Amino acid sequence: MMMRRRVFGLIFVAIMAVVLVAGMPGCGKPVKIDITPPYLRDLAEQLNFYIGTAVGYGSQTFPNNSQYMRTLKREFNAVVAEYTMKWGTIRPDRETFNYRPGDELLDFAENNKMMVRGHTLSWHQSVPAWVENGNFPRDEAISLLQDHINKVVGRWKGRIREWDVVNEVIRDDLTGQTGENPRRGNSVWERSIGADWVEIAFRAAAEADPDALLFYNDYGIERKSRKQDAVYALIQDLQGKGVKIDGVGFQGHFVCGNVPSEEELKASLDRFAGLGLRVQFTEVDIRIKKPVTPEKLTLQAKEYERIIKVALEHPACDAVLFWGVDDGHSWINSWDKNYGAPLLFDSWYDRKPAYYAVRDYLLAEIERRQGGEEGEENEKKEAQDG
Ligand code: XIL
Repeated sequence: MMMRRRVFGLIFVAIMAVVLVAGMPGCGKPVKIDITPPYLRDLAEQLNFYIGTAVGYGSQTFPNNSQYMRTLKREFNAVVAEYTMKWGTIRPDRETFNYRPGDELLDFAENNKMMVRGHTLSWHQSVPAWVENGNFPRDEAISLLQDHINKVVGRWKGRIREWDVVNEVIRDDLTGQTGENPRRGNSVWERSIGADWVEIAFRAAAEADPDALLFYNDYGIERKSRKQDAVYALIQDLQGKGVKIDGVGFQGHFVCGNVPSEEELKASLDRFAGLGLRVQFTEVDIRIKKPVTPEKLTLQAKEYERIIKVALEHPACDAVLFWGVDDGHSWINSWDKNYGAPLLFDSWYDRKPAYYAVRDYLLAEIERRQGGEEGEENEKKEAQDG
């Protein structure tokens, strides 16, 4: 009997050991991951550029996951709150402003010399129930929106370089029919205030922090489309009314194999830069239809390189932010389980081909620019030497 207990005991210990090892980050991966320099952020800084990422919040990400934090500090010089600066986090009820997660991110960013994008002062999602179901009359809804923007932007005035003031106002299903309303109907702001809520939001943000750069942010505008036309018309309308708007954020949520061509991306940035706006890729991820294969990871790397190339070459673009640090914590995992591996680092925080493609392009761009400077120097010298 005793012998049997010992055997069962030994089997249990062996199983636990396997489970512990298997559960450890890095199982199925080389324990040692590549963390050799150069790092993205150092290269970006040499190019006066921001390479950033959305930052989660909690035990699995910022500020508690050490591997997540090491990767974040080492590789990025810009951050945006994935959700802790949205209404849903900040405003659990009408009287409460929960700034703590945002405060923590700002302190971290300032201690690590990172630019901060604010996301987002208004959106049709992440709206707390007391607002969504509040049935507020127009005037009260306007005051609610203005008060929120005034307090949130005011709280971090001078510390947040740029804000997504309005996020995703235009519908995805435009038919182009004459007289079609391009605006989303499933927005509490559209419902309770009416179309001028967008102008009201931008004016409130400009008043709360006149120095902050104010962005309109959306997806599905990275190639010519009815949606891009509608966003363009929206911005022209705002500019026509004298509303301060400084930039457009192209979210860049792409499917691997369907990223717009270099020409399409450039034409889209050119179009909005032509309105005098800054342009940025603000939420880039390139999701891969499962199963994820080495060939798909290679294609993903080429597409990430394409985005970085277009961004760096565009005079009105100074930032590319990815929507997450590592594949293990991407929103895609819960948003569409048929896809995965959308980011630069895998679930073990190991660099993927996409990372190296971005880094190699940054390195090449630095050499190009240095070559250009040396070329100019040589030309000046030759001119002087006659
Ligand atoms: C997503 C976050 O990643 C999720 O964690 C959250 O549950 C929902 O919002 N476009 C946006 C982002 O502008 O705010 C969204 O982020 C992704 C799509």
